[in-house]
Amino acid sequence: AVTEDVSRRDAQGGESIPVLNVGDPEFLGGAYEAYEALREKGPVVRVAIPVSTGSDEEENPEGRTAFQEIYGKEVFFLSRYAEVFEALRDERFSSCPHALKSAEELAEEPVVAEELKPLRDSLLTTDAPDHTRLRKLVQPSFTAQAMEALRPRIVQLAQGLLDQAEAAAAARGEKAGERRMDLVEAFAYPLPVTVISELLGIPEADRDRVRHWTEDLLINRGSRGLDKAALGKLQEFSTYLRALFVERRDRPAEDLISRMVHAKEEGDALSEDELLSMVFLIYVAGHVTTVNLIGNGVFALLTHPEQLERFKASPSLSRGVVEETLRFWGPVDTVSGRIAKEDVEIAGTVIPKGSRVMCGLAAASHDPARFDHPEAFDITRPDAGRHVAFGRGIHLCLGAPLARLEGQIAFEVLFDRFPSLRLSRPAEEMSWGHKVLRGFDEIPVLF
Ligand code: HEM
Repeated sequence: AVTEDVSRRDAQGGESIPVLNVGDPEFLGGAYEAYEALREKGPVVRVAIPVSTGSDEEENPEGRTAFQEIYGKEVFFLSRYAEVFEALRDERFSSCPHALKSAEELAEEPVVAEELKPLRDSLLTTDAPDHTRLRKLVQPSFTAQAMEALRPRIVQLAQGLLDQAEAAAAARGEKAGERRMDLVEAFAYPLPVTVISELLGIPEADRDRVRHWTEDLLINRGSRGLDKAALGKLQEFSTYLRALFVERRDRPAEDLISRMVHAKEEGDALSEDELLSMVFLIYVAGHVTTVNLIGNGVFALLTHPEQLERFKASPSLSRGVVEETLRFWGPVDTVSGRIAKEDVEIAGTVIPKGSRVMCGLAAASHDPARFDHPEAFDITRPDAGRHVAFGRGIHLCLGAPLARLEGQIAFEVLFDRFPSLRLSRPAEEMSWGHKVLRGFDEIPVLF
């Protein structure tokens, strides 16, 4: 069970508050029931987030601070659509975890290696006015129009990956209809990672190394943070990127890193640490979520055959598949990084200044007060696009137009090419991966 009504007394002694064990590897499996229970309790519910005390913690205090020293133990969880929708763009909440910490509190934190600070502090954790300045630098490169220009290349990449899967199956002697692949490894992962690497300008020869450096970020460690090996990899990634900036300063290319390096050189638009932070964020955010949009969408179609038939009959429904997947099984369940800058009243509850707030994106997208029959996967749902899977307000996902485009192309190309694609393992035996994001580690299919 994910919520346990009476398992914990609050800090002041009396009241019992539910526990939301987001660090539990099994959490995602029961999360929608937990969100439903929270929605029924009320629009704003104080929950406890257990902090695990594994031995890693003593060994790696710096890791915990760098990435997981997040939001304390008790948070206010928003689970209904109306409140989540408003809170996401409410400027009384800060996205910067350090915003309200006193000098003493900051001094008490274990030290974060200087080189890793830019990887911790990003656009995502910056408030206006710095956020406005940084976002302006990258926004024009990610508009729907700018992304549309990438369509032919993304189609080509998707086709190329399926060619490779076909060739690999042929080499194993498998016949059409009985060919095997892991859809995540062969398609859902390499597509977005290649697209974002090309857009940024990470040379092809370096991509395997870069993938290796960032892969640990996705492992769900609860509150235990990254281990030494993972931190070492990030250190190497950061050294690599700084060297790449020097190279692009001297020999600019037609890519986003060159444009940003140029912006840095031209004026005081951004510092080198900010540049590092931005490239790191775009690289990571640019693929880890989209892998799951593609994987979750394919899995949803394969387990809802009547929806799949509708899609195959009208491939222009790919937009609907994307939006409904984001609503139904969006990759990001919660935005946990909001802190009240002042006392904020929501639906009659006062959230005191300094409190941590979690916005339940998945909970909101399953709110029956907003979506009819939210537990039905329906690719023709007229209002599916009103989900909050990309957040809202100033931090609204920068890459939403890119993710939407990649998702549409992935679904169109995959089912056009292999209309009889099917799972090779019973759906009941599949479960969510033990990661921070909602998605599958592997999706074995026959084609
Ligand atoms: C922000 C989800 C794909 C880059 C966000 C936020 C969410 C989100 C929920 C807001 C977090 C908050 O308010 O704290 C997703 C999902 C994706 C996806 C579900 C895929 C299905 C991408 C892609 C990129 C990207 C492809 C590549 C550029 C970013 C960046 C931010 C962000 C840079 C920070 C924006 C800011 O703080 O101004 N994303 N994202 N995302 N996303 Fe995405």
